[in-house]
Amino acid sequence: MSGHGTPIPMTSHPCGPLQGQAHVPGDKSISHRALILGAMCVGDTHITGLLEGEDVLDTGKAMAAFGATVTNHGGGAWTVTGVGVGGFAEPEQVIDCGNSGTGVRLIMGAMATSPITVTFTGDASLNGRPMGRVTDPLALFGTRAVGRAGGRLPMTLVGAADPVPVRYVVPVPSAQVKSAVLLAGLNAPGQTVVIEKEATRDHTERMLQGFGATLTVEETDEGRVITLDGQPELTPQTIVVPRDPSSAAFPVCAAIITPGSDVLVPNIGLNPTRAGLFTTLREMGADLVYENMREEGGEPVADLRAKFSPDLKGIAVPPARAASMIDEYPVLSVVASFAQGVTDMQGVKELRVKESDRIDAMAKGLRAAGVSVDEGPDWWKVTGLGHGNVPGGATVASQLDHRIAMAFMVMGMATQKPMSVDDGSPIATSFPIFEELMGGLGAQLVRTQE
Ligand code: S3P
Repeated sequence: MSGHGTPIPMTSHPCGPLQGQAHVPGDKSISHRALILGAMCVGDTHITGLLEGEDVLDTGKAMAAFGATVTNHGGGAWTVTGVGVGGFAEPEQVIDCGNSGTGVRLIMGAMATSPITVTFTGDASLNGRPMGRVTDPLALFGTRAVGRAGGRLPMTLVGAADPVPVRYVVPVPSAQVKSAVLLAGLNAPGQTVVIEKEATRDHTERMLQGFGATLTVEETDEGRVITLDGQPELTPQTIVVPRDPSSAAFPVCAAIITPGSDVLVPNIGLNPTRAGLFTTLREMGADLVYENMREEGGEPVADLRAKFSPDLKGIAVPPARAASMIDEYPVLSVVASFAQGVTDMQGVKELRVKESDRIDAMAKGLRAAGVSVDEGPDWWKVTGLGHGNVPGGATVASQLDHRIAMAFMVMGMATQKPMSVDDGSPIATSFPIFEELMGGLGAQLVRTQE
């Protein structure tokens, strides 16, 4: 878990061209779901390419606490021997999800319709995040929740002994909320219906179908209507986790802003619910090419080739694209600093309730680095200075947020003076090989204190 150990201050020095191949780790969203659904069917689910970041490891430990057998074979290969839908045992201890909002919210959904009582906690970041968005719809199944003020962790959930199916319109664009309701719906009789007005990442729907659940998706005037038949017999699967586009964002953006760079990031999933950043970068004039486009496991996949792009221009990012790049705004704002003109990011209120308030965390760091940022409750604008003109030379608080830390490490590769973060330890939650991988491309990242 992050945030419990000694902080790791890190500095990124301006560097020469980044070159080579960047094999980024497995997808975080898909890794959590593979462990949870593996635990919810009887038999062995074999997973390769699992992200072995702290967030996912915490979810693995939680599944073991609910009675599944979770075995690490090394090198990203894992087996989960599940207990079946409705088969979760009551954990003996508090479930600690560390830094992971996805972990805790999905697990709350998965246990909510079993007659067990579970207490959840996390690190200081996670314990500050809103859980009412998940416990409100879970209450409709009959689940009770008692937490701290504002619906914060630590929190105890009493699962519904006689769950009823639910029809729920998700009020915020959140794949975590949608997924929690669907996972709870697995152990409710009848049909659970979830409606989302804006499409968010659809890994839960795809994976539930893969595990044999009857789930349909309909595009209607009301939105995307997802209907799940409750109490299915899920069948164990073999899952090859694709590489994470949200992690690919860091070497891609680093190459785009660092003079002379040419980096290949192979095997990146381009599921339209996740690939908004790459579209945006291309609209800004980035030299980013999809090579070797193909389909794998029903998902579009490509090798991304990113090259230094000296003539970036600021754009207005369409709000309708926000959900498909919600985790990428921090690093996009770094790229925007090196563009000419204003990059306008609207409709991004959700950024304020991530591992940190990401608009606030980025705005503070960018301003300290000499970049002008305007912000409002659900928007922000970065005025770019153009390539070669970004001063840098600041130390930024990463606020227990991996993506804030990595964004500023990318920034320091192309600023005039180095960029530092007070604590790079949260990077291990999602991208444990970040320093090694970026160093291998030519980045100059140093731990300022051991
Ligand atoms: C995720 C959903 C998103 C995203 C998070 C992963 C998921 O959160 O920010 O990193 O795996 O479902 P929200 O559902 O809160 O938008």
